[in-house]
Amino acid sequence: MSLNQQPAIAVRDLCFNWPDGTSVLSSCSLEVPKGEFWMLLGTNGSGKSTLLRLLAGLLAPKSGQIEIQPPVGFVFQNPDHQLVMPTVGADVAFGLVEEKLPPVSIRQRVDEALDLVNLLPLRGRPIYALSGGQKQRIAIAGAIARRCEVLLLDEPTALLDPDSQLDLVRQVRQLVTRQQICALWVTHRLDELDYCDGGFLLERGRVVAQGEPNRLKQRLTST
Ligand SMILES: Nc1ncnc2c1ncn2[C@@H]1O[C@H](COP(=O)(O)OP(=O)(O)OP(=O)(O)O)[C@@H](O)[C@H]1O
Ligand SMILES: [Mg+2]
Repeated sequence: MSLNQQPAIAVRDLCFNWPDGTSVLSSCSLEVPKGEFWMLLGTNGSGKSTLLRLLAGLLAPKSGQIEIQPPVGFVFQNPDHQLVMPTVGADVAFGLVEEKLPPVSIRQRVDEALDLVNLLPLRGRPIYALSGGQKQRIAIAGAIARRCEVLLLDEPTALLDPDSQLDLVRQVRQLVTRQQICALWVTHRLDELDYCDGGFLLERGRVVAQGEPNRLKQRLTST
C-alpha cells in the first residue's frame, strides 16, 4: 500500500453492545488496504459476524469510527438467504435496480460480472439448479455488477464441500487482484489462509493478532 493511499476499510476503537448491555466489540481497530484480501478469524462468539454487520451498516456502533469505501457488498454463509430471483441473470441484475441504468448497460454489467466468476454460460439457469459453490459465486457476481469496492464475506465456504471451498477462495483471490477491490473474509478454516494477504485474530471483540497469514496460522495451531 502506498503511504498516502486511504485504506478501503478503517475501524478505530469500535465498541458495540447488545441491548441487554452485553459487550461484543470493545475498542476494536483494524485497517484493510485497497486491493488486498484479508481474513478474520476467531473463536465462536468472538464478534466476527457482528463486526461485519457493523461494517455493512446493518448495525450501528455504540462508539468508534468506521470508514469504508462504498459500494459495499455482503456475502452470507447461506446463499439461499441472499439470492432472490428465479434465474442467475435476473438475480445479478436485481442488485442494479436502484441505479436506473438502461437495459443494455444492465445486460453488459451482468455479463461482465458473470464472466469474472466464470459463470457466464449459466446466465439463464434457474437458481435452484445451482450447486452451493455456484450460488456463492452468483452472490459475488451481484456485488461485482454493482461495482463494489469492498466485499464482506461471512464464512462463505462453511456449507461447501472441500473442492468448492478452495474454488471459491481462489476465485475471490483472483477477483481482488484483477479488479483491485478489497475483501474481508471470515473463516474458521486455516487452509484458506494460504490465499490471503493478511489476517486478523479476534478475541472477545478486539484484534489480538494480525498480519502475515503464516504467522497467524502457526499461532492458531500451537494453541
Ligand atoms: N441478535 C443478537 N442478540 C444478542 N446477542 C447476540 C446476537 N447475535 C449474536 N449475539 C451474541 O454476540 C456474540 C458475538 O456473536 P457473533 O455472531 O458476532 O460471533 P462470531 O464470532 O461471528 O461467532 P461464530 O464463529 O459462531 O459465527 C455472541 O456471544 C453471540 O451469542
Ligand atoms: Mg459468525
